[in-house]
Amino acid sequence: MQGELSERGKGLAAQRPSFLAVLSDLWSPTSNPDGILQANAHALTYGDGFSGSHKLKESLCRFMNSQFSPQSTLYPSHLVITSGVSNAIECCAWALADHGDFVMVGRPYFNAFRTTFGMRPGARLTDFSVRLLEVDFGEIDPFSMAAVQQYERALTEGKSRGLRIKALILCSPHNPLGNLGRCYPESVLKEYLKFCSRNGLHVISDEIYALSVWDNPCIPDAPGFRSILSINLEGIIDPSFVHTDFGATGLRIGCLVSQSNKLLLEAAEGISLYNIPSSLADQITTSLLLDDSFVTKYIAINRARLADSYHFATKTLRSHGIPYLECNAAFFIWINLGAVVKDSTAEDILGRLRKEKIYIAAGEHYGAEETGWFRLVFSHPLNVLEEGLKRMIQSIQ
Ligand SMILES: Cc1ncc(COP(=O)(O)O)c(C=O)c1O
Repeated sequence: MQGELSERGKGLAAQRPSFLAVLSDLWSPTSNPDGILQANAHALTYGDGFSGSHKLKESLCRFMNSQFSPQSTLYPSHLVITSGVSNAIECCAWALADHGDFVMVGRPYFNAFRTTFGMRPGARLTDFSVRLLEVDFGEIDPFSMAAVQQYERALTEGKSRGLRIKALILCSPHNPLGNLGRCYPESVLKEYLKFCSRNGLHVISDEIYALSVWDNPCIPDAPGFRSILSINLEGIIDPSFVHTDFGATGLRIGCLVSQSNKLLLEAAEGISLYNIPSSLADQITTSLLLDDSFVTKYIAINRARLADSYHFATKTLRSHGIPYLECNAAFFIWINLGAVVKDSTAEDILGRLRKEKIYIAAGEHYGAEETGWFRLVFSHPLNVLEEGLKRMIQSIQ
């Protein structure tokens, strides 16, 4: 049985623009002599359709096949390209949820999920009508097996209130949290998958930070990144319930990967006119991904720079007694300024920071369970980071 879509999702799938079939079959004297005759300036028209060029899909599959170690080889028919990861996640909201449905998320979480799920898929101006069902962890490590029990509890409680819960979104590696790491161990990912399978939920694994993982000597045993695509789903969950997002924010290229749910991808095609990546971004990304030596060098430099900036920032935090959670992925440090500036609200601390022209986000914006926590972005050139940390420390002293 195919992972079931919402009524809206089924409707969207039926609305796939029919002329996409034409765009996908353009004439080429060598590669497609029976195709429909191509006019000109291919890339500056609607290209191969609204969901990314053939070349980008092929090069992305090649890239993800080598970087994400999928259980079964990824092919272009398994994904749609969008103009950013938010659009890819939003496609899941459109296609998997109807008005009033809920998507589970552990606290704290990337705050834009609220609007990504709720704003346009909400469609009613008065209400964010695809909503997040937040899961509390208390003292439990969100990256542990025990955390899954918390989802079970939240689900039971939500159902007893009559909520219709359709999916769970995992941010893997996590933003904003670090807690002796930021990546989910394979055993925990499997536990999440089993939980979703038991309860008929879709899993959306947001893997935007897949490649921004580095070695942190303070936590030598922290797990590295493990894509949900790499897990053997046999006997665990129907694969048509498992979906992954990845992309490059600055290039405005994202993708929704679903290897066994054709209808979900068709639903995404149904609204693809509003998610088309720029053809220039498409071409640039394709050529970057095809340049193996650039890719290898870029990933290595990115990791080394993230590690340098992280170590610089955490050394400063330690020397000023600011508590933080160690991590080994993405570019955020979860810091506890509330522990240093006693008896202050997040607003007070934000006010002090703003006077120094520093903006870091308060945990409250990310659904944090405990007050006093802030999300510090450390992926800046070292001179900017140094100045920023200096001002932050001035403002809290
Ligand atoms: C976890 C997570 N998901 C999705 C996004 C959004 O990606 P995009 O800017 O490509 O829409 C971000 C951006 O910061 C993010 O941190």
